[in-house]
Parts: sequence; C-alpha cells; structure tokens
Amino acid sequence: MVVSLEAVQSDESGVARRTSIFREGLLEDRIALITGGSSGIGLGIARVFAELGATLVIVGRREDKLAAAKQQLMREVPGAEPVTIAVDVRKHLAIRDSIHGIVERFGRLDVLINNAAGNFHCPTEDMSENAWRTVIDIDLHGTFNCCQAALAGLKASPGGGRIINITVPQALSGWPGSAHAASAKAGVLSLTRSLAVEWGGYGIRVNNVLPGPIAGTEGLKRLYQDRGVADREIERMALGSFGLVDDIANACAFLVSPGGDFVTGCDFMVDGGRWLKRGWA
Ligand code: HXC
Ligand code: NAP
Repeated sequence: MVVSLEAVQSDESGVARRTSIFREGLLEDRIALITGGSSGIGLGIARVFAELGATLVIVGRREDKLAAAKQQLMREVPGAEPVTIAVDVRKHLAIRDSIHGIVERFGRLDVLINNAAGNFHCPTEDMSENAWRTVIDIDLHGTFNCCQAALAGLKASPGGGRIINITVPQALSGWPGSAHAASAKAGVLSLTRSLAVEWGGYGIRVNNVLPGPIAGTEGLKRLYQDRGVADREIERMALGSFGLVDDIANACAFLVSPGGDFVTGCDFMVDGGRWLKRGWA
C-alpha cells in the first residue's frame, strides 16, 4: 500500500504515523469523549489527543475492544488513563445517562467526537429495511443522541465546547453501493450546520471532518479490500495514496485547539483529493 514518504513507523503498534506538528500539552486540561474510540480512526484520534495531554473518555459497544484499546493507549502514551464506557450510541437514554455521568465526574465536557458508525457494501435493490434502518440509526440518530446528551457539559467548557462529526466525502456526492451510509452522513452534515448556528451562542463550535480512505481501518477493509477493489480505489486518489489515521487525528486536534477558535459549521475535507477524482469502486 502506498503511503507518503513523510510517514514514520511507530515503535509500539506498527501503525504508520505522521510526525506531530503540535506543541506539547496543547490539549492539557481538555476532557474529550470519542465515540468509536476503541478501533481505527477513533483510536487514532484518541492516541493523538492523549499525546497532546487530553483526558480521554472512549465509547464503544464491546467491553473487550475497549479494554484492549485502553491497554494500548496506556502502553503507548505515558500518563494516559482513558475512561471507557460500553454503550450503544443508538440507545438514547443509555447515552444520555452515560454522558451525564461523565459531566458529573469531570464538571464539564470540552470535546465530543462523533466517530462511531456502521457501513457495509450493499446495492439498494438488495438492501433490507432493517439494514437501511440500522445504519441510519447508528450514524445519524447516534450522532444526535450524543450531541444532545453532551450539550450541558459542553456549555460548561471554559472557552467553548467543540463537537466534531466524522462523516465521509460521499455524503456530498452520493455513494452507489452504500446509499444508507451516504444518506446518514448527509444528515449528519446538515445537523452540524444547524447546531453550529443553534449552539454558536453558547460558544460551541461544531464541524465536520470528512476522511478519504484510511489505511489499516475496518472501513477500508470492508468497503474496498474484501471486495478486491482497493487497487481501483487507490487510482482515484489525487495524491495516489490512502491516508493514515494520524491525518484525521491531526485535523481534529487542530479544530479542538485554539487554532479552531473561529471555525464552525465547516466541512473539513481530509481525503487526499479523492472527492475530486470521481468514479466508483
Ligand atoms: C447486507 C447486511 C450486511 C451486509 C448486515 N446487514 N451486514 N445486509 N450486506 N454486509 C443487515 C443484516 O442482515 C440485518 O438486516 C441488518 O443489516 C442489521 O444487521 P445486524 O448485524 O443485526 O446489526 P448490528 O449488530 O447492529 O451491527 C451493525 C452493522 C455492523 C453496521 C451491521 O456491521 C457493525 O456493527 N458495524 C460497525 C463497524 C463498521 O461498520 N465499521 C466501518 C465503518 S466505515 P436483516 O434484514 O437481516 O435483519 C464507514 C466509512 C468507510 O463508515 C469509508 C471507506 C473509505
Ligand atoms: P471501525 O474501526 O469499525 O470503528 C468503529 C468504532 O465505532 C468502533 O470503536 C466500534 O466499537 C464503534 N461502534 C460501532 N457501532 C457502534 C454503536 N452502535 N455504538 C457505539 N459504538 C459503536 O471504523 P473506522 O473505519 O475507523 O471508521 C470510523 C469513522 O470514520 C466512521 O464514522 C466512518 O464512517 C468514518 N470514515 C472512515 C473511513 C475509512 O477509511 N475507514 C473513511 C471515511 C470515513 P464496537 O464495535 O465495540 O461498538
């Protein structure tokens, strides 16, 4: 797999890393909750945030994945001690209680990253109603559930809370073969813009980050590699390479740092130019 020459190899986990451009302690005293923080892009965001000094809360459904992620973060980042919560983002009341519990414990929430999602390739003519509903429920309703539950904590964040919704460029273009995910993420794009205005008066910044295909992730595996179309997809990358989890984590770190103070309601495309080079694998 082609990756940029700028990438460096991490000693601990073998994940290809970018050299950090951020100053030490940039996110110190920030309480950050990341849904889907137990693998892939979410775990990558958690790692970079921990390296920059944030206090982490990671959410997922499976206890074993959360425990493994916690161990990995503690091994890789001295001083990191993430709180883990096993809860399904689709469960409105359970999410409300879990996030309120975190706000009670820390007195506030500074950052919410809505990253948990479900996706699989399935042409719409073959898709069951439950398959459609399941993806909409995780991606769109789950994001709404977490945003609403986090509001009181984000309002209490000194300097203004931050929400980042992880979406996908195909939310803008449509996605033949993944209409459920594209539709759900298009809903998330719109929710972001509404909340940026509704909650701007509370000092809360709400933005979308739109990753292109990211090496070493479940998304890349199930949407492209398992279907034998990864080589065709890489030809559609303007930069000729899939991204790294650090590319998404660094974009998120910028947005939640003081660098993002005047940024709200934006679509931050981090896709290696995939969006502009059309075609479907
Ligand atoms: C057709 C499928 C299917 C498939 C599931 N279903 N997988 N239909 N093709 N491959 C159908 C089931 O048959 C069922 O419908 C319905 O979907 C719900 O399935 P469950 O397994 O009961 O759902 P659940 O246990 O809630 O799991 C949700 C899931 C699962 C989305 C199906 O895959 C999951 O938990 N995914 C989380 C991880 C993930 O998706 N990661 C990738 C994110 S990548 P019936 O009618 O039979 O009841 C991403 C962007 C990638 O979002 C971009 C790449 C560049
Ligand atoms: P991943 O490795 O499959 O991670 C998904 C995470 O979400 C896991 O921690 C998973 O843990 C959790 N999760 C899934 N369903 C959940 C639910 N209902 N409730 C709570 N947690 C849930 O996925 P990824 O490939 O890194 O993708 C992460 C995000 O990036 C997604 O929003 C995806 O749409 C977006 N994205 C990915 C790519 C890519 O190339 N991978 C490209 C564009 C956009 P459990 O299984 O334990 O619940």
